[in-house]
Amino acid sequence: MDLNLSGKVAIVTGGGQGCGKAYCLAFAEEGVRVVVADINAESAQQTAKEIQDKGGKALAVKADVSKWEDVSHMTEKALEEFGQIDILVNNAGIRGLAPVEDIPDELWDRDLDVNLRGVFYCTKAVARHMKERRYGKIINQSSKAGVEGHPCGGSSYAAAKAGVLGFSRSMARELGPFNINVNAIAPTVIRTPFMANLPKEFVESMEKATPFGRIAEVEDFTGLVLFLASDRSSYITGQTIIVDGGQRPT
Ligand SMILES: NC(=O)c1ccc[n+]([C@@H]2O[C@H](COP(=O)([O-])OP(=O)(O)OC[C@H]3O[C@@H](n4cnc5c(N)ncnc54)[C@H](O)[C@@H]3O)[C@@H](O)[C@H]2O)c1
Repeated sequence: MDLNLSGKVAIVTGGGQGCGKAYCLAFAEEGVRVVVADINAESAQQTAKEIQDKGGKALAVKADVSKWEDVSHMTEKALEEFGQIDILVNNAGIRGLAPVEDIPDELWDRDLDVNLRGVFYCTKAVARHMKERRYGKIINQSSKAGVEGHPCGGSSYAAAKAGVLGFSRSMARELGPFNINVNAIAPTVIRTPFMANLPKEFVESMEKATPFGRIAEVEDFTGLVLFLASDRSSYITGQTIIVDGGQRPT
């Protein structure tokens, strides 16, 4: 199936490593021009270089999604370099873990700022442009924790990711009349540096709870992101797509 993505422009936040990097590389393989945005300038540069070395088009931008000036600068650079923005993948995320009685305000605020405010800022920054062009695909990487709660003390994270789902559904309604699709992905544990602070026993239990007997790899998500970014999914909006490998309690 041809996704007809060639020539489109995508911004991927958190594109320096993990899922974001996989999305950037997958887009580039489809001929998409990619803006690799990350708080870590070096890793963003590295992803962009990998794309360029293979003949693709990419621009690395250092941006903390929780800061409006950074997000606004990211969008300006994207438009300056590529002239349009067709796709936004709000992927950047962090997660603190602590029992509720021990959550310091700083941890709560940072989880909410990056995971929820970041999605709001990036959406706000591209909305006017996408509305004017009457075209856009916005994909928000939430988490199964946003649907079910977090099993290991990530309540601030889960609250933010649940917020992302409400925001996504609202954006689907608000931006739909402008031919902009907004969907959310809710993954379970994915093998990236992000899972490093999860208890080993929990990860093993997740493997056992999955009929495939393994946790997810980043490649398990790239096909879905490409599909949601393409016109092949034009009648899909306001959805939360849970991708958990069929996990059930053991
Ligand atoms: N890995 C998992 O188990 C898992 C499960 C469910 C959901 N997710 C979600 O998937 C997304 C990607 O996670 P990952 O596993 O690739 O994590 P990761 O830690 O490997 O990568 C996250 C990337 O985001 C960047 N980042 C962090 N804070 C940022 C900020 N303020 N501004 C811009 N960039 C920032 C980091 O530098 C990093 O490159 C996150 O939203 C995460 O919540 C991950």
